[in-house]
Amino acid sequence: MRHFLNLVDVSREELLHLLDESQRIKAAHQRGIPRRTLQGRIIGLVFEKPSLRTRVSFESGIAQLGGISLYLPGNEVGLGWRESLADFARTIGHYVDALVLRVYHHQTLTALAAHASVPLINALSDKAHPCQALADLLTIRELFGNEQGRTVAFVGDGNNVARSLAVGCGKLGIRFILSSPPGYGFDEHFKNLYRAKVSAELPEEVPDPYQAVRTADVIYTDVWTSMGQEAERDIRLQRFAPYQVNNALLAAAPAHCRFLHCLPAHRGEEVTDDVIDGPASAVFQQAANRLHTQKALLEWLLIHQNSATTPPSISSASAVTPSS
Ligand code: CP
Ligand code: NVA
Repeated sequence: MRHFLNLVDVSREELLHLLDESQRIKAAHQRGIPRRTLQGRIIGLVFEKPSLRTRVSFESGIAQLGGISLYLPGNEVGLGWRESLADFARTIGHYVDALVLRVYHHQTLTALAAHASVPLINALSDKAHPCQALADLLTIRELFGNEQGRTVAFVGDGNNVARSLAVGCGKLGIRFILSSPPGYGFDEHFKNLYRAKVSAELPEEVPDPYQAVRTADVIYTDVWTSMGQEAERDIRLQRFAPYQVNNALLAAAPAHCRFLHCLPAHRGEEVTDDVIDGPASAVFQQAANRLHTQKALLEWLLIHQNSATTPPSISSASAVTPSS
């Protein structure tokens, strides 16, 4: 069973395929061409934490592809506390064709995967946000025509979003620079995983944000306090203050540099209004791309990688093939 829990487990060729398919799916969607590749499929969405972009783009994307989504609030299914993860995984596989999960602990995903009979998609954990990275990479490709050889300076926390983007960049030949306060960069566990699974140099870590953005094509940031870290908010506000993406920092980057943020933004903290609302910003194009990249991901996982689970309706002549 192939899952999508972490970009480290996706090859460069697979990642390029997903981006190519995302572009095709987006172009067809914009021309109003219907695509019903998930007809007869039911996808469960388990969210332990709040979401706008991830949940709605999955639900809308599934509906556009002719599938059905079932929203399962985390406090209702109670992963690991209402019943064991193994019992949950062995049950839910009889009802749905895939599961999208947003969880507090990445271990929840790996434990579920050990018992899952349907593909699992990581919709954000404490360790990784691979669905976000797909949209980020597509946006970089769209902004510059080609991602290869570009430079991304991530200014802020070495968190889930930064890790997944760093891995995606490493696989696609994009230089990734992380600029974080001491103690908030990439941890050893991540670096070891990266060394083992990505055949590229480790991401550079440049503590001075002004130095980090000097050659950047993209400045990227995310919140300083991620969901689940609320108790650390006061100390984080102090530590990260010199890492705000504002007009002074943007001015230190090349004139063509663009600004990305996974959203939601804490305006006035990690980014100022004039940057996120300014001409360099592409954050809503980036948010829109979540829809297209996740449709490509669903087709790839459900139709190509795990085709044994394909119901008869999907292989019939009426189904639109993913590359059409
Ligand atoms: N970027 C992102 O994952 O947004 P949501 O938390 O709103 O899903
Ligand atoms: N790093 C943030 C991303 C939200 C999309 C968090 O985990 O809360």
